[in-house]
Amino acid sequence: MNVILGVGGGIAAYKAAELARALMEHGASVQVVLTAAAEEFIRPLTFAALTNRKVITDLFAARSAEETLASSVEHIRAAQENEVLVVAPATADLLAKFAHGLAPDFLTTLYLAFTGKVILAPAMNTNMWNHPATRDNIETLAARGNYILPPDEGLLACGTTGAGRLPDPARIADAVMTIGHPRKDLDGEVLVISAGPTQEAIDPVRFISNRSSGKMGYALAAKAAARGARVVLVSGPVNLPGPYGVEVVSVRSAAEMRDAVMTHLEEATIIIKSAAVADYYVANPPPQKIKKTAARMSIELDPTADILAELGRKKGDRLLIGFAAETQNLVQEGRRKMETKNCDMVVANLVTREGAGFESDENEVTLVLRTGESIQVPRMSKFEVADKILDQALKLRLALYSRT
Ligand SMILES: Cc1cc2nc3c(=O)[nH]c(=O)nc-3n(C[C@H](O)[C@H](O)[C@H](O)COP(=O)(O)O)c2cc1C
Repeated sequence: MNVILGVGGGIAAYKAAELARALMEHGASVQVVLTAAAEEFIRPLTFAALTNRKVITDLFAARSAEETLASSVEHIRAAQENEVLVVAPATADLLAKFAHGLAPDFLTTLYLAFTGKVILAPAMNTNMWNHPATRDNIETLAARGNYILPPDEGLLACGTTGAGRLPDPARIADAVMTIGHPRKDLDGEVLVISAGPTQEAIDPVRFISNRSSGKMGYALAAKAAARGARVVLVSGPVNLPGPYGVEVVSVRSAAEMRDAVMTHLEEATIIIKSAAVADYYVANPPPQKIKKTAARMSIELDPTADILAELGRKKGDRLLIGFAAETQNLVQEGRRKMETKNCDMVVANLVTREGAGFESDENEVTLVLRTGESIQVPRMSKFEVADKILDQALKLRLALYSRT
């Protein structure tokens, strides 16, 4: 996807560098445009290094007729060659110029010439955000089809607390990829995806958990939503922003995860269980903190409910995809899990491999399919792996259940 990232002169301009990086991680090609005020906050060099492209800062960069012809009027070309324009931070000033059709610089001129999708992420002081002029401009821009990502509430750089913070760059990138995604091949599907670890209480302050970061499940949810699906993401405790357009159901224990997944089973057309659910739990944790003593102690553990096996029994013609984090015999273990749990696909990965699996931004997996095939997915970002899994899911459903 070709994306123009317009950066306004707000204190949050530094976060646009992270946004550029996040968009590149999603596989987007990113052209950055800075306003003159943005250049007061962050240098073009930062963006040039991150995107491997020249940063545009000047409407009148071409100094002669020849140069103008050679660049074929850069703002018009940029408008034609890109599918999405995201402006972050969108200052009060830029919102006013966009709403009123003013075009004194490159970004505002490009905005008027642009026919693709426009996403605006405003960030400013709370009073500026609440000012009737800004409110009117936002209303006008939204009514004209611009996507507005409302600012978060919190402590602002000016020292006040309220609405005005730029949302997490990862969340903006996610919104850009979802809104701009050209392929809506999961339109009409309902995906229930589980992600992250579970926490099983030992006492009120301690728990048993695992190293799952939830990144793979969150990437799957983001990509499925981008491809047009309705997505319910049942998530254990993780440190990730909820993907754009995804309904997140937060749970803590294996028992809570089981209940949440089963609640949404009926409406699901595809179920992906990527959570790393605890196999054992403490059935009756004490209500008070266990005191330290010099004596050896042991904890009695009981097995948790097998969510995947229950889904396998109840799934009907829904597509069921499980994950197998293995330390050896990848395909063999994947196939065994597929048979015993009645899955249609098992995504097997070697968690011992350096730079892939738990906590990593990349993954390298083998897709074990009910049709008998197994497909190697070489190392790539978890977002790209997510797309491969969803591609195979659609093919597999056609082969197994001949639904269109
Ligand atoms: C330190 C400082 C911080 C600023 N932060 C913001 C901000 O967060 N949001 C905003 O809308 N304007 C902010 N402004 C005001 C803009 O920089 C000013 O309106 C400028 O004309 C915006 O230009 P641009 O929209 O072309 O980038 C700030 C100004 C200064 C001096």
